[in-house]
Amino acid sequence: MDTIVSAVSSPRPGRPTIQPGWLRITHWVNVLAITVMVMSGWRIYNASPFLDFRFPNQYTLGGWLGGALQWHFAFMWLLVGNGLVYLVVNLASGRMARRFLPLSPRGMLRDALDALRGRLSHADVRHYNHVQRAAYLFVIVDIVALVVSGLAIWKPVQFGPLCALLGGYEPARRVHFAAMSLLVAFVVLHVSMVALVPRTLRSMITGR
Ligand code: HEM
Repeated sequence: MDTIVSAVSSPRPGRPTIQPGWLRITHWVNVLAITVMVMSGWRIYNASPFLDFRFPNQYTLGGWLGGALQWHFAFMWLLVGNGLVYLVVNLASGRMARRFLPLSPRGMLRDALDALRGRLSHADVRHYNHVQRAAYLFVIVDIVALVVSGLAIWKPVQFGPLCALLGGYEPARRVHFAAMSLLVAFVVLHVSMVALVPRTLRSMITGR
């Protein structure tokens, strides 16, 4: 595993790597998969909305319910496969613990207050602050919740116990929608934060 990880880790020998190759690839594949899943999901929701609104059609994908379902079911494999690669390599290489731990409520409060006062340091982009760690761990759990609730509403008979655990088909559908909404909120905040510190975007593209 270490050999595979190091083979795609260093963009240029001798230069320090901030974001290894496998992480950059899985991050951008994830962005593609999430974009397609959210936009096709909005079209599927529009066919049978349970809230008092529909998503504007120009922000949806698939053209109609059948087309949107095809996009959704095709890209769910990419989302899950890519997510598994991210999790397995991240955990097995020890990077996840190094990058996301320690994490404490006190640290989160301190970093959140520093950020609000404009005092949060971005001198070293190799380290995530506690708010970033919490946000990234949150979105990982949220995507897992999206996949699990998605399985429950995709195959409510085959995944009967899972569907029952979520309270049945309709509640599972609402869990899926809530997880999608939290993911979209994360993306809005995440992209705003990246815009404030553009150096991080360079490291997510070039590795350095
Ligand atoms: C579409 C959904 C997205 C999700 C779920 C997501 C998720 C994440 C996660 C979990 C990380 C931390 C990865 C790790 O270190 O293991 C991360 C980092 C990062 N993401 Fe995203 N991301 C998304 C979209 C984007 C977009 C659109 C951009 C560009 C505008 C972006 C730019 C970055 C950058 C620059 C970092 C590194 C941040 C830093 O070094 O401080 N992400 N993202």
